[in-house]
Amino acid sequence: MKIGTIDIPEYPLLLAPMEDITDRSFRKLCKMFGADLLYTEFVASEALIRNIDKSLKKLQIDDDERPTGIQIYGHSIDAMVEAAKIAEAARPDLIDINYGCPVKKIANRGAGAGMLRDIPKMIKMTKAIVDAVKLPVTVKTRLGWDTDSIVIDKIAKPLQDTGIKALTIHGRTRSQLYKGMSDWTLIGKIKENSDIHIPIIGNGDIKDGVSAKNAFDKYRVDAIMTGRASIGKPWVFKEIKHYLKTGEILPEPDITEKVNIAKTHFTLSLKYKEGKRGIFEMRRHFAHYFKGLRNFKELRLKLLTSTNVDEISDLLDEIKYIYGNKNQENYVQQ
Ligand SMILES: Cc1cc2nc3c(=O)[nH]c(=O)nc-3n(C[C@H](O)[C@H](O)[C@H](O)COP(=O)(O)O)c2cc1C
Repeated sequence: MKIGTIDIPEYPLLLAPMEDITDRSFRKLCKMFGADLLYTEFVASEALIRNIDKSLKKLQIDDDERPTGIQIYGHSIDAMVEAAKIAEAARPDLIDINYGCPVKKIANRGAGAGMLRDIPKMIKMTKAIVDAVKLPVTVKTRLGWDTDSIVIDKIAKPLQDTGIKALTIHGRTRSQLYKGMSDWTLIGKIKENSDIHIPIIGNGDIKDGVSAKNAFDKYRVDAIMTGRASIGKPWVFKEIKHYLKTGEILPEPDITEKVNIAKTHFTLSLKYKEGKRGIFEMRRHFAHYFKGLRNFKELRLKLLTSTNVDEISDLLDEIKYIYGNKNQENYVQQ
């Protein structure tokens, strides 16, 4: 598959953009485990044009995580065009536009999924961005605002006509937020449409090899994108790739391996985040890495409240020591 000039291998597996998750440290891990294309967290256009340091930092991409796209969002066409130019100067591999964020304060202002309620503006904004930058531009969106206003079938072709190089569809409406299951039938219909020739990337509830294979086989999408299943489990990319290739389900990494991966993640987080942020931003990940461990409450609490790097490192070693290699017995039924 090609997105503009970017070559992506067969059965592409993409890391979804996720706020507070897909920072440099996490992207590197996902890349190590085989993710084919990665995205930054979404970045507010207004913050970029106002030079807000925290947002500008989100644009930083290292060569060892390529290809990576920068995702931007906003409600003003002028601000989005300016932001796309700023993002382009940071040398990502592509620029992705977010028309899917369901968060009230974003969507109700007309940005993110809010754009699903103003299709003419969405098309105008997309075209303006495509025309303003040289990099490939892609769009990520949802099926529609709610079940009574599904628009994906109406917007796919006009979006393609603006010159975007791929379209990612999350198979939920804005009203669904993250509830229920994604409707892949509608994603499949867009892919089936003979007027659509840009790659269609399917997104929603891909969590393992079986769901990934089903998405490719049944809905014929060009690529799949996974988000939540990778949190605390960046090896999910390796698992899925292995399953697609061999039909075998790889065993979960044992606790020792999980601790080693979490430690690598922690080291990267400390490297890229200033002050205590490298610690704070790992808490959510730690909670996921060791989800379901038996009798873990006390250690978990310490791990998620400590503000000391050495103490956290010792706690991670303690997990290794206590749970050792008795892998299956370690977990409560989930
Ligand atoms: C914590 C979190 C943060 C997210 N942030 C973004 C974001 O910044 N941009 C975006 O397009 N989607 C964002 N999403 C949506 C995901 O990219 C993805 O579309 C959604 O989670 C469905 O895919 P999944 O079932 O594989 O998780 C976020 C989702 C989660 C759970």
